Amino acid sequence: MRILAIETSCDETACALVEIKQKTKTSIPHIRVLANIVSSQVSVHAPFGGVVPHLAKREHIKNLPLIWEQCKTHPIIKNKKVDMLVVTVGPGLEPALWTGITFAQDIHTNYFQKKIPLVGANHLHGHLYSFLLAGKISKFKFLSSNQKKLFPMVSLIVSGGHTILGYLKNIGLFQKLGETKDDAIGECFDKVARLLGLPYPGGAHIEKIARMCRKDFVPFPSPMLYQKNYHFSYSGLKTAVLYYCREHTNQVDTKHKAQIAAGFQQAALRVLVAKTKRATQEYKARTVSIGGGVAANKALRRMLKYEISENLITPPFSFCMDNAVMIAVAGYIAYVHKIKYPLRANGNLTI
Ligand code: KG4
Ligand code: ZN
Repeated sequence: MRILAIETSCDETACALVEIKQKTKTSIPHIRVLANIVSSQVSVHAPFGGVVPHLAKREHIKNLPLIWEQCKTHPIIKNKKVDMLVVTVGPGLEPALWTGITFAQDIHTNYFQKKIPLVGANHLHGHLYSFLLAGKISKFKFLSSNQKKLFPMVSLIVSGGHTILGYLKNIGLFQKLGETKDDAIGECFDKVARLLGLPYPGGAHIEKIARMCRKDFVPFPSPMLYQKNYHFSYSGLKTAVLYYCREHTNQVDTKHKAQIAAGFQQAALRVLVAKTKRATQEYKARTVSIGGGVAANKALRRMLKYEISENLITPPFSFCMDNAVMIAVAGYIAYVHKIKYPLRANGNLTI
């Protein structure tokens, strides 16, 4: 099946063409990326220290036709050999989501004459199934015997808007075990980066300066670490860093910033790793997968590999961040499992 997907849930305008082959609806799909365009709006939002919804909408409206012109040069799209059109319907910023939905409806009617299905996708399914884009998984392709080596899986979704730990019994069978009770981990990285005067989005900058610090981390608490559930909380940690920075305003030089960043990162990741490890044991998971922007963090990957003996499956860095390839996969899985999302922006859609 050849799928054209559009993603506009936040500050990336993205379009992808993907070919998916699958034996049965629960077997491991074989995914081939034929085109993958991502236009980032980071420079537009950076001066404001976060995503400004009406600017995101304006940029998507400007970028979508440009990306579409680029996509149309692909022979499969030019010759209308696409089997399905997918668009993100949520979660995300509703004004941004609507731009993608209305654009998809427009090309569905005026370019494809409604001859193919137009399917709504859950952005979180995109991050959840991005492990299928891992190079390592390709050795599993089409081999149903390998299915047993992959599932059950514990899945960790860590992005700018979400922190979710779940159990994936098989493709299409996800159960949420816990999530953040307040801020998402990526949002927390971004806010702490701002406190330290680092550019937006701050996650990768925090990771970079934290690497400069080998000892004397500033100790911060890991909220909910010892609670016997799979939930998280990040607003208290953010406040702890804020108070620390206020108390040490005159002493925050580059070395001290690195010590704060390293201490914060350690506290933020420690609880993720501990709860993922516990879930892996409790649910007898054979593998652990991670997805979402924070899954690009090398310290997180290292800590998970060290703590969890099971196979850790990580998507390539470019598929951790928002993209439309993962949306094609999410739309495809929803379609074969008959999960239908109305073509309406739903900012609070969950899984
Ligand atoms: O998945 P994503 O692109 O967008 C959402 O769906 O939210 O994630 C973006 C988030 C941002 O908060 C960004 O700071 C964070 O991912 N991020 C990182 C790293 N790279 C991106 N956080 C920690 N370490 C990184 N290396
Ligand atoms: Zn995302």
